[in-house]
Amino acid sequence: MNSRLPGFYRLPLEQRRQRIAAELGLDENAARQLSQVLLDETTADHMVENLIGVYGLPLGVGLNFRVNGRDHLVPMCVEEPSVIAAASHAAKLIRKSGGFFAEADDPIMIAQVQLCDVADADAARLAILRNAEELIALANCANRSLSDRGGGARSLTVRVLEPGMLVVHLHVDVRDAMGANVVNTMAEAIAEKLGQLSGGVVGLRILSNLADLRCVSVRAEVAFDDLAINEQSGETMADGIVRASRFAELDPYRAATHNKGIMNGVDAVALATGNDWRSIEAGAHAFAATQAGGGYRPLAIWRRNENTLQGTLRMPMAVGTVGGTLRVHPGARLGLRIADVSSSSELGMLMAAVGLATNFAALRAMLAEGIQRGHMSLHARSVALHAGATADLVERVADEMAAAGDVREERAIEILQRLRSAGTLSSPLASCNDR
Ligand code: MEV
Repeated sequence: MNSRLPGFYRLPLEQRRQRIAAELGLDENAARQLSQVLLDETTADHMVENLIGVYGLPLGVGLNFRVNGRDHLVPMCVEEPSVIAAASHAAKLIRKSGGFFAEADDPIMIAQVQLCDVADADAARLAILRNAEELIALANCANRSLSDRGGGARSLTVRVLEPGMLVVHLHVDVRDAMGANVVNTMAEAIAEKLGQLSGGVVGLRILSNLADLRCVSVRAEVAFDDLAINEQSGETMADGIVRASRFAELDPYRAATHNKGIMNGVDAVALATGNDWRSIEAGAHAFAATQAGGGYRPLAIWRRNENTLQGTLRMPMAVGTVGGTLRVHPGARLGLRIADVSSSSELGMLMAAVGLATNFAALRAMLAEGIQRGHMSLHARSVALHAGATADLVERVADEMAAAGDVREERAIEILQRLRSAGTLSSPLASCNDR
């Protein structure tokens, strides 16, 4: 499979779908699904309470991604213009230097059991650690199917939070699941015994979203020669990106926005593959705030390395390729089919690569032309659409408004009327066929 599909964005929608289906070797059913509503009301009604409708978001495909020598088309579900194009462009530049290189920790999630009113915290801690083996066995009895799949509870630690309050961390290898259910079940299964051992009162029993034992790391390089843009040399651009990285390393106000640029990519894939993007967000920001050096840190940094710019990103990635939403949501299953990953670790590495790509693309765009120009032309498209433009007219109206730096609905209507009265376009359909 090749993720490099030149001219893809210029194809009419139906042909884009056909191209993706052919590239992935989708069977007729799966290919048909691409053009259908991906979540029906009956299914949605079983997913949440008080359902009144199904809310849509654009599903696009990120191109040019190569991770650890393997190509992937990336399903991306996002409402913000330019994220998918920017990710694809960044991946295209990075691909020239071999693509992304990623590693994933074992899929270990943490269950927390809070113990309160413990009279002797040190004695309680020792009692729990002495009984660790029995507690782990108890946890594993609560979910035998995980052990059958090669996962299960592995170890535990005890932390004293303040006099009288302890927290036990149970480390669980959840294999290809996101793991929330199994981890919560295990936390509940060992809670009573922990209460007895500590002589305290059991409080919360729940997973931690700071999944810092389940991190992914990704690295990418872009040669200076591929970084040049407009009048700026590649080396100048690289230095600008390193300075932007330092800015985020030194200032939490900038780090928050830098990380938002990463999450633009990560969340888009999380949504498209049915993963819990809120838990990934919570984990990412908690991780960013608990790293060596203190304060809130950027998840990705950029440095010069001989004649290349090198980016590295490390973050927790609690994602699943089985269970959860995937069981019920046909769109999530299709998203996973597009990503073509064989494990949750592989999905996590791909998501981190997309995050590094959107981070790089944002920094580059801000240094090259400012972020507003790109945003402006995409914003112009939605204004043109709202003003009633269809098919080719959308681009033409948007281009004219963006070029004039006047992106307003009244202006769009004016341009539309002029184009229509000049008979520029016979019918929207005709224009589609012309492409
Ligand atoms: C906008 O969605 C994301 C950026 O603000 C990220 C950044 O500033 O690095 C452009």
